[in-house]
Amino acid sequence: MKAVEVARPGVLAIAERPMPPDPGPDEILIKVKAVGICGSDMHVYRGRSAFATYPRVIGHEISGEVASVGKGVLGLSAGDKVVVDPVISCGSCYACRLGRPNVCRDVKCLGVHVDGGAQEYIIATRDKVYKVSQSLSFEAASTVEPYSIAAQALSRGRAVGDDMALVCGAGPIGLVILQGLKALGAKVAVADVVDSRLKMAVSCGADAVVNSSTQDLERFAVDFTGSEGFPLIFEATGSIQVLELVVSKLASQAGRVVVLGYPPEKAQISPLDIMRRELDILGSRLNNKQFPTAIKWVERGDVDPSKIISHAFPFQDAQKAISFIEENPHEVCKAILKF
Ligand SMILES: NC(=O)c1ccc[n+]([C@@H]2O[C@H](COP(=O)([O-])OP(=O)(O)OC[C@H]3O[C@@H](n4cnc5c(N)ncnc54)[C@H](O)[C@@H]3O)[C@@H](O)[C@H]2O)c1
Ligand SMILES: [Zn+2]
Ligand SMILES: [Zn+2]
Repeated sequence: MKAVEVARPGVLAIAERPMPPDPGPDEILIKVKAVGICGSDMHVYRGRSAFATYPRVIGHEISGEVASVGKGVLGLSAGDKVVVDPVISCGSCYACRLGRPNVCRDVKCLGVHVDGGAQEYIIATRDKVYKVSQSLSFEAASTVEPYSIAAQALSRGRAVGDDMALVCGAGPIGLVILQGLKALGAKVAVADVVDSRLKMAVSCGADAVVNSSTQDLERFAVDFTGSEGFPLIFEATGSIQVLELVVSKLASQAGRVVVLGYPPEKAQISPLDIMRRELDILGSRLNNKQFPTAIKWVERGDVDPSKIISHAFPFQDAQKAISFIEENPHEVCKAILKF
């Protein structure tokens, strides 16, 4: 079978790999149909991932069809349309015992730490495989994973329907968070520095957008919130200056700040800003059992994957897809490899 393999940083090829063995007890063999390309795949390709080892098959936004199931597998059979939760954890460390395996001290993600889904077949254990409606396209189903990131961020931020939120960054992550917040009923403003990204935010239902390279974000926050500041803010730009501004100026008294982006620099943040307003600063990583929520969103039409999927390529053109993404960063939102 064929696999999209990064042999070493900067070198990607369609490699020939042996077919996986027949699925063992509790395992499922999946014929992969669509895999979304994410920023972390690009980091693996470019050698910018702190965690990847090589050679590595990329891909953690996976949909496919059950080919066969191992002994004892319940609730799934050949032909079912499925998605795969890519988070793997140890099951015994403090975070795992607490029920938060997404921050396991030894957490692994498909396509980064171990081989991912961008290959014609993969094996997954029963607990990682979720059935989705046959009426969903494989492309739409592959976005369940990014929506699970949004569901995790909303859960961490304790988002509710009457929240007034600011989403910083209108990349794929900012846009899925925006769609999740709108599905809840929240009022949402989105900040970015690229107009084409802000246009996507408008089409995803943003109540207001602000280009913070040409407009004063602090002034905008005062106007939008009636000078109270935002009770809920998501940092999804990966810009250290944005995080500093959010904590020092944009969050309301008793506000919640959910941190998704992780730039390499250290932030200059005043403890007084955190203490004075009793801010909750909450990390959000991958997803913790959020696949059922994300599937419900996509199946019910609470969110619209077609608003984030901008391009699709046959997997054989993976190199072309990656070059296209690198050369057209403002135009591409979510690109998908089709198998
Ligand atoms: N926590 C997690 O589980 C998780 C999962 C996936 C991605 N991430 C991280 O979340 C961040 C967003 O991911 P993405 O795939 O949407 O990335 P992306 O790079 O596609 O999008 C980031 C957006 O932020 C905008 N931006 C950059 N600097 C800005 C600034 N100073 N002010 C306003 N806007 C600015 C960019 O124009 C872009 O539209 C990244 O840092 C990524 O590494 C975290
Ligand atoms: Zn992803
Ligand atoms: Zn663990």
